[in-house]
Amino acid sequence: MTDGLGVKEDVPGFPMTRTCPFAPPPEYAELRETEPISEVRLTLNGRRAWLLTKYEDVVKVLADPRASSDVTHDGYPLFMPVPVELLKAMPRILFHMDPPEHTATRKLLTPEFTARRVDAMRPSTQEIVDLLIDDMVKQGSTADLVHKLALPLPSYAMCDLLGLPREDREFMHSWISRLVSKEMTPEGHGMLQMEMAMHMDEILDAKEKEPGDDLISRVLARNIENGTNLGRPEIITLIMALVAGGHETTANMISLGTLALLRNPDELAQLKANPSVCRDAVEEMMRLFSVSDFGTSRVALEDIEIGGMTIRAGEGIIASMGAANHDPAVFTDPGTFDIDRSPNRQIGFGYGMHVCSGASLVRMQLEIVFNTLFARLPDLRLAVPFEELEYKEASFIHGVIEMPVTW
Ligand code: HEM
Repeated sequence: MTDGLGVKEDVPGFPMTRTCPFAPPPEYAELRETEPISEVRLTLNGRRAWLLTKYEDVVKVLADPRASSDVTHDGYPLFMPVPVELLKAMPRILFHMDPPEHTATRKLLTPEFTARRVDAMRPSTQEIVDLLIDDMVKQGSTADLVHKLALPLPSYAMCDLLGLPREDREFMHSWISRLVSKEMTPEGHGMLQMEMAMHMDEILDAKEKEPGDDLISRVLARNIENGTNLGRPEIITLIMALVAGGHETTANMISLGTLALLRNPDELAQLKANPSVCRDAVEEMMRLFSVSDFGTSRVALEDIEIGGMTIRAGEGIIASMGAANHDPAVFTDPGTFDIDRSPNRQIGFGYGMHVCSGASLVRMQLEIVFNTLFARLPDLRLAVPFEELEYKEASFIHGVIEMPVTW
């Protein structure tokens, strides 16, 4: 509906709610048909932004340097209740940088996720998965997959990656689940940032004194060798980006991915018969769930012509991965979990210069976890009716709260 001046009065609120765990909010499909670039109102602060629901438009924007990730820009569509003053006062996190700052900072991380480096992490990942499944089996024939496998795996793996004792996992887990909660207050956010910054500061002191064979020690060394010369607060923020980006997301993919396999027995049978298909299954899970759906938001620094319209400089853009990954123009029967989909140009790890730094690590972890889980517990099934599962509506990252399984 528009007022007398042609300005829209009522536009949909955002974020929208998922009604099915295997699909993004149903409004995306309607909007893609009627108005693929549509105005929405952010529930957090009433501000307007443009929601993009076509694959073609989403990738175009994510590849466009005029679409900025600067979260402190007035027009940036902010979802988390983080006070902008706090964001402005703190060093910028990698996700929110634009070039050239982004290019130089990202280079400090790139060598950590090469194929060789990720391959070297296979044995320790396998060890963690085996230990967690041993523990599930020891305790009987039912367990909550979320708390026994999905959550501990990425946090133990993160400790190994960063070179922290595995006991740190509890701290990481509690920190990140509070960070991504929709119930977090602005004051709470400030406290959280302080809490992690102080913890990281102590860790960096220790790593500077006694470097190890781990990511933090190597990043500290590379920072000097490359002449990047980030200060202590900036290095802390860079490490925090890994903790923030790499925990809840992977954990939710483990439980939701298992659920997708259990609900699709033909696909599961293929995976059990031939573990090498797990690679394609993981790509399909990334597409189907798009767990961090609107993590790819931007603000236009200049006017951007797209999809037959102009997004004006200063306007917010929500380049929805969930909508793009379910666009029928690119993915036939997008609601179907089809591990034979080829090509599968899913963008669940984002697209363009900010594409997920940890993607190759996640792919490796998910392949190991699904192959091991179904090899060791071939009769694994849900211990409650599917309809009784509850999803993380209070979180910005899609996931299931608990997933009782039996074998
Ligand atoms: C299933 C798990 C994961 C998903 C779905 C995911 C998703 C994403 C997405 C969509 C982005 C792009 C954000 C943007 O364009 O603004 C991103 C960036 C990033 N991710 Fe991930 N991520 C996952 C796991 C990880 C892990 C395990 C790590 C680290 C070990 C990680 C580290 C990062 C970092 C550092 C960035 C920022 C890259 C940049 O701005 O240049 N992520 N991730």
